Amino acid sequence: MRPRWRLRLYPTARQLSAFALLAGVLSAGSWAPSGCSAEEPDAQAGGTAAAELPPPLSEYLGREIAPTMGYQGAPWLIRATREKEESCDELLAALDIEPGQVVCDLGCGNGFYTLQLAELVGSEGRVLAVDIQPEMLSLLDARAKEADFENIEPMLSTVIDPQLPAGELDLVLLVDVYHEFSHPVHMLRALRESLKPEGRIALAEFRLEDPTVPIKRLHKMSKEQILKEYTANGLELAAEYDELPWQHLMFFTRAKEPPDP
Ligand SMILES: C[S@@+](CC[C@H](N)C(=O)[O-])C[C@H]1O[C@@H](n2cnc3c(N)ncnc32)[C@H](O)[C@@H]1O
Repeated sequence: MRPRWRLRLYPTARQLSAFALLAGVLSAGSWAPSGCSAEEPDAQAGGTAAAELPPPLSEYLGREIAPTMGYQGAPWLIRATREKEESCDELLAALDIEPGQVVCDLGCGNGFYTLQLAELVGSEGRVLAVDIQPEMLSLLDARAKEADFENIEPMLSTVIDPQLPAGELDLVLLVDVYHEFSHPVHMLRALRESLKPEGRIALAEFRLEDPTVPIKRLHKMSKEQILKEYTANGLELAAEYDELPWQHLMFFTRAKEPPDP
């Protein structure tokens, strides 16, 4: 029997302040269809950041940071052609998830991968489903209720802090989200600290090196750039899976030597 869904939005003072910060960051978001059905819609994370947030970066180590994809683009994430285009089952199999594990779907959107991760970790495991857009979490909530899961914990985060427990995660999955991080250094530090000693980050990004991948340039990354950014932040490459049709899939673990403060 499938586990029952249980919504945990942690209505603590911390969460409420996160909500307030996000309202400012995302209020001016707008979604402009690209005109190409296979391209990804995106949103401008316009808005005025709250005073507590460090200023967002527009560029990091030579890469232009992409705007946040707004919740208005959520239907694209669960489009009927996604499995065929991205071989999502193959990506999931390459993660080597075991029942009982604690995993995070970071930048979960409306939960395309969250629900499948919940199935893989089973009733003894947990999936922390983290996103900065409350609307995305509401869409995930509806889909998870429909599927009757209770091992999913939706968590509203901020652009600098995913609010994950330290040292508890077996895996953090980042599909098509890292390139949107407005504060990559803050986020990578937090993700590194959330991992168990043998925990892994699985990063999937559309391949910049391949002009046939029909995704906007800003939403793609090269392997070289990924390695530059991750190794600069105390993470080391542990494995790679190069068989996906459109994406790099790279696994990182905590580096033995922590990065310079
Ligand atoms: C292109 S969607 C991908 C969603 C999902 N991973 C998938 O593949 O279906 C990117 C998501 O990442 C979220 N996001 C962007 N920056 C984030 C951050 N710093 N922390 C958490 N989520 C973030 C956005 O709100 C959006 O829902």
